[in-house]
Amino acid sequence: MIKYGFIGTGNMAQAMIKGLLAKGVSAKSIAVYSPRSAAKLTEKWGVISLSAQRLIDDSDLIVLAFLPNQLENVTANLDFKNKLVVSVLAGITLEQLIAATHTTQIVRTLPNVNVAINQGVTAFSNTALTATNNTIFKVFSDYLGSNFNLAETQFAIFSAVAGSGPAYVFKYIDALAQAGIANGLETELATDIATQTVLGSAQTLALSTHSAKELQNAVASPGGSTRAGLDDFDTQNFDDVIVHAIKATVEHKHL
Ligand SMILES: NC(=O)c1ccc[n+]([C@@H]2O[C@H](COP(=O)([O-])OP(=O)(O)OC[C@H]3O[C@@H](n4cnc5c(N)ncnc54)[C@H](OP(=O)(O)O)[C@@H]3O)[C@@H](O)[C@H]2O)c1
Repeated sequence: MIKYGFIGTGNMAQAMIKGLLAKGVSAKSIAVYSPRSAAKLTEKWGVISLSAQRLIDDSDLIVLAFLPNQLENVTANLDFKNKLVVSVLAGITLEQLIAATHTTQIVRTLPNVNVAINQGVTAFSNTALTATNNTIFKVFSDYLGSNFNLAETQFAIFSAVAGSGPAYVFKYIDALAQAGIANGLETELATDIATQTVLGSAQTLALSTHSAKELQNAVASPGGSTRAGLDDFDTQNFDDVIVHAIKATVEHKHL
């Protein structure tokens, strides 16, 4: 049984723990440490609350899930014993992780919130791992969703598309629902209809051999109402709006 340890138990750690539990990972094989809220997770899920060093000693895979600017502070007095360390710290490079943890077995990841329902999209980049650690990481990451091995230089664009992406999809769903409401649909109904339409369309695309552009054209017959809508999207420069928003996301400097 692989043993997992989480240092930091905020939104992302909880999303990942939820995903692991949903796949049948035993709560007893998950240890958590954080200064204030770890005990609450023990009550909520039955996971084990340990000191940070005990957690490292007892785990096969240790997730760093505190805030990026806490890296030096949190790791200063810990001995990682060359264990497998998986970081979710946005913007923290493998080089910085090696310097802080003194381990050679590190995976830098960037997961998105959908790991909580095992549908996450995660970028990862790693040091040379032992075969055992490679397998441990693969088992862990497969539980949580789809995983993409990317160069660290591509993490910023990945973060904009996949990390911030869920917020942009929620925004689109909300706009679609609001348009339905403005034209007479009841609020809850409009939201359900918009949500299921996006969910089903994403699944159709994922299962299809056609591109998103080809599927647009398949739905829109020439001279039909969908074509009129798509033409209006083009007139309003919808694609440029998305490109512009992604650029703003990538170029945003953390305060
Ligand atoms: N949220 C996302 O969608 C997302 C996506 C990708 C990557 N990330 C990354 O995930 C990390 C965590 O983000 P988050 O949204 O989960 O933040 P968060 O909800 O603010 O959680 C931060 C956690 O860090 C813990 N912490 C504070 N001081 C600590 C210390 N000295 N030692 C150990 N733990 C400590 C806090 O513990 P207490 O609760 O006990 O105070 C809290 O559990 C960040 O590095 C972020 O870049 C987040």
